[in-house]
Amino acid sequence: MPGRLPCDSQDQERWSQPHFCCILSRYRLPLKLEVSRMDLFVTSLSGVRMPRILYGTAWKKERTAALVEQALTLGFRGIDTACQPKHYHEPGVGEGVQAVQDKGLSRQEIYLQSKFTPFGGQDPMRIPYDPKASLAQQVVQSCQTSLKNLQTDYLDGLILHSPLAHAEEMQEVWQAMEGLHAKGVVRQLGISNCYSLPLFTQLFHAAKVKPAVLQNRFYAETRYDRELRQFCHQQHIIYQSFWTLTANPRILRHPLVQLLARKYQCSTPQIFFRYISQIGIMPLTGTTSATHMQEDLAIFEYELTPDECLEVEAQLLTHETIP
Ligand SMILES: NC(=O)c1ccc[n+]([C@@H]2O[C@H](COP(=O)([O-])OP(=O)(O)OC[C@H]3O[C@@H](n4cnc5c(N)ncnc54)[C@H](OP(=O)(O)O)[C@@H]3O)[C@@H](O)[C@H]2O)c1
Repeated sequence: MPGRLPCDSQDQERWSQPHFCCILSRYRLPLKLEVSRMDLFVTSLSGVRMPRILYGTAWKKERTAALVEQALTLGFRGIDTACQPKHYHEPGVGEGVQAVQDKGLSRQEIYLQSKFTPFGGQDPMRIPYDPKASLAQQVVQSCQTSLKNLQTDYLDGLILHSPLAHAEEMQEVWQAMEGLHAKGVVRQLGISNCYSLPLFTQLFHAAKVKPAVLQNRFYAETRYDRELRQFCHQQHIIYQSFWTLTANPRILRHPLVQLLARKYQCSTPQIFFRYISQIGIMPLTGTTSATHMQEDLAIFEYELTPDECLEVEAQLLTHETIP
């Protein structure tokens, strides 16, 4: 288990600003990896250094290893996966990560995040733990499977894929995750698909190890998690978004976003990713296209003005619906 990366207090301070400035940290990849590009990192509540955009690995099946290798080679430094064979081929993620390590990138340079998926989210024919074991044991077994799949001895992040139905179950699972954190197997914890502010704040206040990450679908139906994001902002919790492009076609088609794309000579998805990054969200992209990978990374090469951010914000407000 390698030592913790140092916590960058400057990053934390800037992270707390709503329209934070870019934090640029340059790195050069050794050996055959040819990329030398600017990248942006943030340090989480738990002191874990994370890139501002993550590469998501869902639904890639047998292409997973090659796509993960390509994403890391092109400059991604954060990978999101799950111990959920129904949607993620986690061993393929491990192969892709191993391939870039063989070319000289160190494990410590990669932020690797996986999930514990409760029974209800698993394919009953392919459950990666003993479903008859206690919930706490399921969490430990799932994490052991992830470590094996990912060919690593620690995870940078372990996310509870979705809340459990009962408070006692939530408590048992979270405490098991805290146990893994205490052993140093997992560097930080998080939760996903949690759209209830009372539930999230309850977890936050009850937890010994606070959730450092909330990973949610970013869409109009939940009013873009406005209150949850406000809470995350106050508590320095990182809000990660998925469905960012697919759930927002109207925003991407909007004349304002098209105008900004012309101004910054980029695509409308890039403008939207850039906007959400500037308001403090960490987007996930699961693109399968090398061009889109490069475009998604390039969002850190320009910056929208505060007024432009407010104009895009106004469009989000227009599309919001009350759940
Ligand atoms: N916690 C959860 O329950 C949960 C649920 C869903 C997803 N996730 C995570 O989030 C990741 C991302 O999933 P997602 O649902 O947001 O969708 P996604 O897999 O990122 O797909 C988004 C779509 O956007 C396109 N795209 C990406 N970058 C683009 C660009 N620059 N220009 C134009 N199109 C672009 C992709 O097409 P191309 O492939 O053609 O580029 C794809 O059709 C997943 O892989 C997974 O890790 C988590």
